[in-house]
Amino acid sequence: MRLNKYIASAGICSRRRADALTEDGNVKVNGLVVREMGRDVKEGDVVEVSGRVIRPETERVCIVLNKPKGYITSVRDAQKRPTVMDLVGDIPERVFPVGRLDCDTSGLLILTNDGALSQMLTHPKHRIRKTYRARVGGVLSDGRIARLKKGVDIGGFVTSPAELRVLRQAERTTLVEISIFEGKNHQVRRMFAAVGNKVVELERVAVGEILLGRLRTGHYRKMTRPELAYLGELSRG
Ligand code: URA
Repeated sequence: MRLNKYIASAGICSRRRADALTEDGNVKVNGLVVREMGRDVKEGDVVEVSGRVIRPETERVCIVLNKPKGYITSVRDAQKRPTVMDLVGDIPERVFPVGRLDCDTSGLLILTNDGALSQMLTHPKHRIRKTYRARVGGVLSDGRIARLKKGVDIGGFVTSPAELRVLRQAERTTLVEISIFEGKNHQVRRMFAAVGNKVVELERVAVGEILLGRLRTGHYRKMTRPELAYLGELSRG
């Protein structure tokens, strides 16, 4: 980014004034006075104006992606498998995924460039509801449903109460909607495994009040104003 744009985007002054300040020797980059107005600033450069370090205000971006199966929830993958970043490549801001969906899980994934928002949504103390549609093998007996609702041992950890309802009972599988308030690794798959039902398909349909709706697989959308207001309220507690 051009130095004058960087200074202006920190809310210090206009670009023109930034050029004047630069020419007059009031601007330092990485501790050295810079008088060259066309200078570019790279990520990691420290810019000072009249002795004060400045930071440009970046616009907050919050995205809802419908993640397809087969994509890794990671910014990059050492094995060069497709990642969710491949699906949001045209977003100029440096967004990153909030939490994680398994490679085999599809559905709602939030991406943002706001670290504080990401922490708020993933920290267990906030108990954000995450809702999934799971197709599991076999029949889910009342006893198993009761155990899942109450909390099950998934290997060294007992899950806290979950909400669950059966949507459809087919011949060999059961379609269930389950809401959990934690985010342990593979939690939903491990919960069903703990009662003896294997998850054969898993889709996340909501995070808090953010809904997947009819967003097409592999597509993303920016969050709406009401969604951003809702997240703002959550952040304020
Ligand atoms: N629980 C799982 O088992 N997998 C996911 O991807 C998300 C929740």
